[in-house]
Amino acid sequence: MARAVARFVCQACGAVTPKWAGRCETCGEWNTIAEEAAESRPKAAPGRRIGFVALTGDAAPPPRAPTGIAELDRVLGGGLVPGSAVLVGGDPGIGKSTLLLQAAAALSRAGRRVLYVSGEEAIEQVRMRARRLELADAALGLAAAVNLRDIAASLEAEADAALVVIDSIQTMWLDSIESAPGSVTQVRATAFELIRLAKSRGFALVLVGHVTKDGAIAGPRVLEHMVDAVLHFEGDRGHQFRILRGVKNRFGATDEIGVFEMTDRGLAEVPNPSALFLAERRGNVAGSAVFAGLEGTRPVLVEVQALLSANPGGAPRRSVIGWESGRLSMLLAVLEARCGLRLGQSDVYLNIAGGLRIGEPAADLAVAAALASAAADRPTDPGRVYFGEVGLSGEIRQVAQAEARLKEAQKLGFTSACLPRRVARGNRPLAAPEGLALHEIGHLSDLVAGLRA
Ligand code: TYD
Ligand code: MG
Repeated sequence: MARAVARFVCQACGAVTPKWAGRCETCGEWNTIAEEAAESRPKAAPGRRIGFVALTGDAAPPPRAPTGIAELDRVLGGGLVPGSAVLVGGDPGIGKSTLLLQAAAALSRAGRRVLYVSGEEAIEQVRMRARRLELADAALGLAAAVNLRDIAASLEAEADAALVVIDSIQTMWLDSIESAPGSVTQVRATAFELIRLAKSRGFALVLVGHVTKDGAIAGPRVLEHMVDAVLHFEGDRGHQFRILRGVKNRFGATDEIGVFEMTDRGLAEVPNPSALFLAERRGNVAGSAVFAGLEGTRPVLVEVQALLSANPGGAPRRSVIGWESGRLSMLLAVLEARCGLRLGQSDVYLNIAGGLRIGEPAADLAVAAALASAAADRPTDPGRVYFGEVGLSGEIRQVAQAEARLKEAQKLGFTSACLPRRVARGNRPLAAPEGLALHEIGHLSDLVAGLRA
């Protein structure tokens, strides 16, 4: 057996160094380097020749097993692919175990063999959850285990498992490795073994992973490269919405989201998120505008809220929830420089209602509308949606999928939309849905003037 040599591994990025250091040279994180015993390897056998083939050949789409939870299947790209590995990350307490128990039960009710390995909770705790979620009748196989050697032996003996859930990968442990469960070396080695098993036995593998404060899946960013799909389960603890977001998917589109609502009976699917996100909106309040957004292929309407409060003298505060603060600073500068809106003496609070996080620049126009409405102390038209990107000179730029956004707005009973002016060149005419008036603008000052008038 090889000698176990000590080495130092960054718990954030997995980089290995021979010496301890306060800061990882690879990823720049502080205090992430920890000592781990090196994995001992048996002497390598000579390699076998691999066969090279042509690019053409059978390219049937991978077979899929829909879990029966449509919001989850959408993010997966249609269902679980046999032999693939999916990592589901999220903060502790966000609902990962609940979601996966529901998915496991749904698949097992559809007659598939499903195994659920809990490394965090005892059998009785999982059973209690199953009773509370009214899933206790599902015939899935449940085990509380952390020793990967035992788990692997049991999985080897399974002939026809369709899905294996490991909750969580940070609790799994291989006795041939000295470092603690949850360390990069353990997580990598246990995940590697499980993924190998999934491929050879043909079951879909779901690994649950916890997330650190900065949003990375704890320690093992390395894990993201090993799996076929990475899904983030996110949401604000104060809100009942939970969003499952695809951040990597070898078998489908990323940027799809699944929306769930937390209830006392588990996660309920939200097939129409716009209605939910707008449910608590109160019309006729200054500082509110509805953004017609897009999450993956799916249009989602959300309310953008802005609040200004006078702060003469002091350094003005900018506080943002659900949007980029850099983008807000840019918009404030454009509003000031191009539209004459003086906001330098005001604290600015911006909030995307419902706990959604928006990444699209198309939200610029809605954010600007909320800000301008707050500044003018006049509500925006409650029947209007906004979308469009704002450039540094205040021009309103085209965004993708205008028609899908308009259709969603019409479906939810909106009567008008404020959007980028069509430029004649090359742009085919927009098909405006019936009953939706289009208010096209070319410059941000048109919007501000409209709210002041
Ligand atoms: P849990 O699924 O255990 O979160 P995680 O596995 O991500 O740590 O859920 C955390 C708690 O929230 C748990 O006590 C159950 C509760 N909960 C509900 O009551 N309803 C729900 O819909 C969800 C998702 C969770
Ligand atoms: Mg859990």
